[in-house]
Amino acid sequence: RRVAVLISGRGSNMAALIEAAKDKNFPAEIAVVISNVPDAGGLATAQAAGIKTAVVDHKLHKKDRTAFEQALQAELQKHAVELICLAGFMRLLTPWFVGQWHERMINIHPALLPSFKGLDTHKRALETGVRLHGATVHFVVPEMDSGPIIAQGAVAVHDDDTEASLAARVIKVEHRIYPLALRLVAEGRVRVENGRCRIAEAA
Ligand code: GRF
Repeated sequence: RRVAVLISGRGSNMAALIEAAKDKNFPAEIAVVISNVPDAGGLATAQAAGIKTAVVDHKLHKKDRTAFEQALQAELQKHAVELICLAGFMRLLTPWFVGQWHERMINIHPALLPSFKGLDTHKRALETGVRLHGATVHFVVPEMDSGPIIAQGAVAVHDDDTEASLAARVIKVEHRIYPLALRLVAEGRVRVENGRCRIAEAA
């Protein structure tokens, strides 16, 4: 399966996916990394790993989300992309775009969904006093951070945690579960039934 990873920033999850996909037995290849931010740190990381990169700058399509998404779609088609991984991609996508990639686009969110949708998840987890926190990989649906859950990983919250220390613990889990979730999807083992994922055994 040909995969595009969409980023806006440093791209550490992207790097974890690139690393996993180096394995000959991994069922997906990273065909292209696309950023909506021209100077995203992850672009250099991808290039250093020999992966093709592209920039679709949302600022060139001011006030026109459709034009931005059409440019994105053109870039995806150019690279014959079959699956999309959002990895720290900080643009909301319209129902039109999401519909084009129904059950073929996944996202990683730094919280145990459905808790803490949106931004500042670690700060809110600390404020709420949850003892477990973590990360979730899910299919993308039009509503933000809401699609069927493919994989989750949990970490303990420590009494002396800061946002930074908690984030550092969660990101390690992200780097483990994202390649795992992509593998499941690329192998065709994930079926969505009544809004929930069912995972088939490996063949
Ligand atoms: C990650 O915490 C991811 O879950 C969130 O944004 C962050 C991106 O980090 N959506 P990176 O760019 O993958 O390092």
